[in-house]
Amino acid sequence: MIQWWYGHNIVGFLLTAGFIGMMYYFLPKQAERPVWSYRMSVLHFWALIFIYIWAGPHHLHYTALPEWTQTLGMVFSIMLWMPSWGGMINGIMTVSGAWHKLRTDPILRFLLVAVAFYGMSTFEGPLLALKPVNALSHFTDWTIGHVHSGALGWVGFMAFGSLYHMVPRLVGKPLYSLKLVEWHFWLASIGLILYITAMWVSGVSQGLMWKAYDEFGFLKYTFGESVAAMHPYYVVRLAGGLFYLAGGVLFAWNLAMTAWGRPSKSGAAPQPSLNANQEGQA
Ligand code: HEM
Ligand code: HEM
Repeated sequence: MIQWWYGHNIVGFLLTAGFIGMMYYFLPKQAERPVWSYRMSVLHFWALIFIYIWAGPHHLHYTALPEWTQTLGMVFSIMLWMPSWGGMINGIMTVSGAWHKLRTDPILRFLLVAVAFYGMSTFEGPLLALKPVNALSHFTDWTIGHVHSGALGWVGFMAFGSLYHMVPRLVGKPLYSLKLVEWHFWLASIGLILYITAMWVSGVSQGLMWKAYDEFGFLKYTFGESVAAMHPYYVVRLAGGLFYLAGGVLFAWNLAMTAWGRPSKSGAAPQPSLNANQEGQA
């Protein structure tokens, strides 16, 4: 219980709250629109602080933990739906009036897709916290799929979008290439989709295989058979990881070239928001 008090707060605060702060700062900056609702962002913050700290026991369903604490963890996880989705809607509505920019600005696209994945992983989380669902998902790759829709989709995309916004301002030079950002966006998106869909299918298959009995009441599959059945999904995850990594290499290259101030071969990238006003703020 004490371990997961800290364990879940790592997820809830390190991988969530800090990135929500980035969402509320960098998304309006890049979209050049005000935060849709400040009141909602304050509510979002305090509701997360209050509710997240009770959600830890959802990692410990069906253990020796007292039953009532498991129920508490489940109920608070479901309550988390509200502030999480409120925050996601706040982020998405911030882009209203700037939707047309998504066609030409892959940095804004990174930030918006991150918010969408925040919504997706916080929709999936409460579902996994329900005891009957957790009875199937726990110990399987479903958890790993959930982890990485948060880690690669929400945390990763938010970090990429924020750094693409920030680094040119930090070094006072235009971004080396917007075309590379476009490539990075698609490579990362393909990698992410391959990773999480493979883990969902493998997770549910694992859960079902471990629970299957024959007519005599014996387990239908050995553990080894369930591992062997996962092979194709792990190959797909490997491919997904390589796509994501390839995108990451372009990201590092683009930012390094930006910092060194080399001119782009494809011409200087248009800077949607490096105008005098924002340069002043930066
Ligand atoms: C409403 C929000 C969320 C809820 C209620 C929730 C709930 C859950 C549940 C029930 C599990 C599975 C526990 C198990 O069977 O072992 C889990 C695992 C996990 N979740 Fe979430 N989740 C939420 C959002 C997120 C987000 C946004 C991220 C990442 C940015 C994240 C990262 C993780 C990680 C890393 C684990 C695996 C922990 C381990 O190593 O066992 N979760 N979450
Ligand atoms: C291309 C990028 C990535 C790949 C290919 C990858 C791959 C993996 C693999 C193979 C595992 C072990 C899963 C298992 O036990 O079966 C894992 C676990 C984990 N990864 Fe990643 N990862 C990536 C990026 C990230 C990022 C960016 C984060 C955090 C922001 C992250 C957070 C985690 C966590 C918390 C776990 C432990 C999950 C658990 O045991 O419940 N990963 N990852």
